[in-house]
Amino acid sequence: MAIPTTTDIIHLYNRRAKRYNFTANLYYLIGFREQAYRKLAVKRLNLKPGDTVVEIGCGTGLNFPLLQQAVGIRGRIIGVDLTDAMLAQAGRRVAENKWSNVELVQSDAASFHFPDGVDGIISTFALTLVPEFDQVIKNGVDALSPGKRWVVLDFKLPSNRLAWLAPLGIFITSPFGVTRDLANRHPWESIEKYLTRTSFEELYAGFAYIATGEKRGNS
Ligand SMILES: C[S@@+](CC[C@H](N)C(=O)[O-])C[C@H]1O[C@@H](n2cnc3c(N)ncnc32)[C@H](O)[C@@H]1O
Repeated sequence: MAIPTTTDIIHLYNRRAKRYNFTANLYYLIGFREQAYRKLAVKRLNLKPGDTVVEIGCGTGLNFPLLQQAVGIRGRIIGVDLTDAMLAQAGRRVAENKWSNVELVQSDAASFHFPDGVDGIISTFALTLVPEFDQVIKNGVDALSPGKRWVVLDFKLPSNRLAWLAPLGIFITSPFGVTRDLANRHPWESIEKYLTRTSFEELYAGFAYIATGEKRGNS
């Protein structure tokens, strides 16, 4: 399967939006501890009450409860996504929880203008789908306050002795637009390129990772 275009992604996620939360949970059946990985990614943001956090490719807002816990009611969450139906699900979650501090923005991550002075940026299972991921990370770095963090949680192919299972990994994630060619995109290298005090944590036997980096300038 070729690399999905932006139009392909919108069609795919418009079709999947209503069942997205359910299908994402199916990965538990193969031992993928999705919620634990989300928790760890949000923890790596090191947010404080009152902070402003941007989520790129927020989808249906599965991270919002964790982000809410971290920034509190005085904080602000800005969720950005390309796909209207995914954002509609996120909007439903926001309304049901009566969260008044969440702003949803329908935009391609590549053309999103980050507000100045952001206290954290996160993207989970989304950035590898964005061809301009390097520029998106760079734009985010420019908007981050010194000492604040960018965190990416995503799939990758293992480079260890499980590398032979790569085709299976691609097959299992293909319902979400993952193709073999996407494995050539390495957002963690952009985190390492533009940020300092970086870390790279492999999860799920190397099929997923959390990359964290801090904006320079806070000695
Ligand atoms: C696998 S879902 C992940 C959703 C959410 N981050 C999560 O962890 O459940 C991928 C999301 O990325 C969004 N996406 C893909 N390409 C995008 C782009 N270029 N700009 C913004 N969002 C994008 C899709 O619309 C979809 O909602």
